[in-house]
Amino acid sequence: MQSDHLQPKIAVIGLGYVGLPLAVALVHRFSVTGFDIDKKRIEELKSGFDRTHEIEESVLKTITLHCTDDLNDLHNQDVYIVTVPTPVTEENTPDLGPLQKASEMIGRYLKKNAIVVFESTVYPGVTEEFCGPILERVSGLKAGVDFYLGYSPERINPGDKVHTINRITKVVAGQTPEIAEKLKIIYGTINQDNIFVAKNIKTAEAAKVIENAQRDINIAFINEVATIAAKLDLSVYDILDAANTKWNFLPFQPGLVGGHCIGVDPYYLAHCARALQHEPEVILAGRRINESMGNFIALSVHEKLQKINPNTLSKHILILGLTFKEGIPDLRNTKVLDVINHLKKLGHTVDVHDPLADPNEAKTHLGIDLLTSFSQLKNYDCIVGTVPHQPYLQLTVEDFQKFLTPKGLIADIKNMWKRVKLPPDFTYWTL
Ligand SMILES: NC(=O)c1ccc[n+]([C@@H]2O[C@H](COP(=O)([O-])OP(=O)(O)OC[C@H]3O[C@@H](n4cnc5c(N)ncnc54)[C@H](O)[C@@H]3O)[C@@H](O)[C@H]2O)c1
Repeated sequence: MQSDHLQPKIAVIGLGYVGLPLAVALVHRFSVTGFDIDKKRIEELKSGFDRTHEIEESVLKTITLHCTDDLNDLHNQDVYIVTVPTPVTEENTPDLGPLQKASEMIGRYLKKNAIVVFESTVYPGVTEEFCGPILERVSGLKAGVDFYLGYSPERINPGDKVHTINRITKVVAGQTPEIAEKLKIIYGTINQDNIFVAKNIKTAEAAKVIENAQRDINIAFINEVATIAAKLDLSVYDILDAANTKWNFLPFQPGLVGGHCIGVDPYYLAHCARALQHEPEVILAGRRINESMGNFIALSVHEKLQKINPNTLSKHILILGLTFKEGIPDLRNTKVLDVINHLKKLGHTVDVHDPLADPNEAKTHLGIDLLTSFSQLKNYDCIVGTVPHQPYLQLTVEDFQKFLTPKGLIADIKNMWKRVKLPPDFTYWTL
C-alpha cells in the first residue's frame, strides 16, 4: 500500500514530551487530533506555548494540529496513538493507571477496523494482555478481529536537537502483518521510511525497555567505579579519559539517574521478570547503585567541607541545577533532590538555582524556592554543580569568586569546570 493512498484520521492521546512532537510531526501528512486530559496544557498549546520547550511557538501557531480536551473529539478516529505516562508506584512497581484510563476512554469511542497503537514504555505483554482486554471490554469489539493493536516505542530524548523524531529509526509492531505494514507507512512519513518492523508487539515492547535498562546498568557500572575511585583518591573522569582511548570501551559518564525513563523503565522489566519467577539481579543491582548516588555525593561534599573548616558544622551550600538532566525544564524524578535532602539532613543550609526549571513547579512539587538569576548568588561555602546546563558551562573565575567565600569548595559532579583556572584558595572536587 502506498502512503499516498492512506489518509487515516489520527488521535494522539497525551500531549507531553512524547505526544506533542509526534502529533506535530504527523500533522504535516494527516488530519491529527491531539488530546490531553490536562486542560491547562491544552490552553497553553492553543496559545502557542509548549512548557516542555520541544516545539517553538511559531510552529504551534502555524500548524493545523487540533489540540483538545473534549472527549467528543475522540469519535470517528482511524488510529489512536497513546503516549500517556507510565510511572512507578512508591514501591517501584509499574503504575498502569494512566494506561488503564486512556484505554477505557478510547474504548468508548472505538470503531470497527480502528488501530490503537501504544507508545508508552511498558513491559512485554502490557499492550495485548492489559490494554487490549480493557479496550475489548469497554468497546464490545474484539481485538485482532474488529479492531487492531500496535506498539511503537518512542526513542526521542528531550532536549536533544540531533536525535529528533524525524532522524531516528522507529520500531513498529502490529497485531497482524497487515497492521504492521500500515504503521510502517504512517510512521515512515515522519522519517523518510526509516522503520524497523519488529517481529511482534511483545518483542517491540521488550526492545524499548531493555534499551533503557541497558543504559541504566552501564551508568551504574561507571557510578560504582566513581565510588571506588573516590576511595583511591582518583577522579573517575580521569580514569575514563584514559580508558576511553580503547576502541571498544563504552563511553558512559557517572551521575544522577533521574527522569521519567532510565530511572523508571528497569523497574518495569524487573516486575515482568519477577512475575515469571526470575529474580533480575543485574537490573536491580544497577538500580540500587544509581539510586544511592545522591547520598554518596552529599556525603562526599559534607566530608570535604568538614575537612576545609571543621569548626562550623552547618555550611551554606549552593546547588547549581535541579532538573533531571541538562538543557530541559523537566523536574520529574530528579535525583538532585536526594543530594539536597541529604545535605540538609547533615545540617547544611541549601539554596538551589536552575535557569530552566519552572519556579512554581519546583515550589509546588518539590517544596523548593528556586533561585533563577545569577545576581542572587553570593558568599556560599560550597557550590555543587549537579546539572551541566549551558549557562553553567560558561561560568568564569570571576563568577566563582562572587558566588563563593574565600576557601570555598567547588563540587563539580559533572566535570563541567575542569578547565577553569581557579585561584589556589578554592578547593575543587569532582567525582
Ligand atoms: N520523555 C521521554 O523522554 C520519553 C522518551 C521515550 C519514551 N517515553 C515514554 O512515553 C510515555 C509518555 O512520556 P512523556 O514524557 O511524554 O510524559 P508526559 O508526562 O510529558 O506527558 C504525558 C501526557 O499525557 C497526559 N495524560 C495522562 N493521562 C491521560 C489520558 N488518560 N488521556 C489523555 N492524556 C493523558 C498528561 O496530561 C501529559 O500531558 C511514557 O511511557 C514514557 O516512559 C518518554
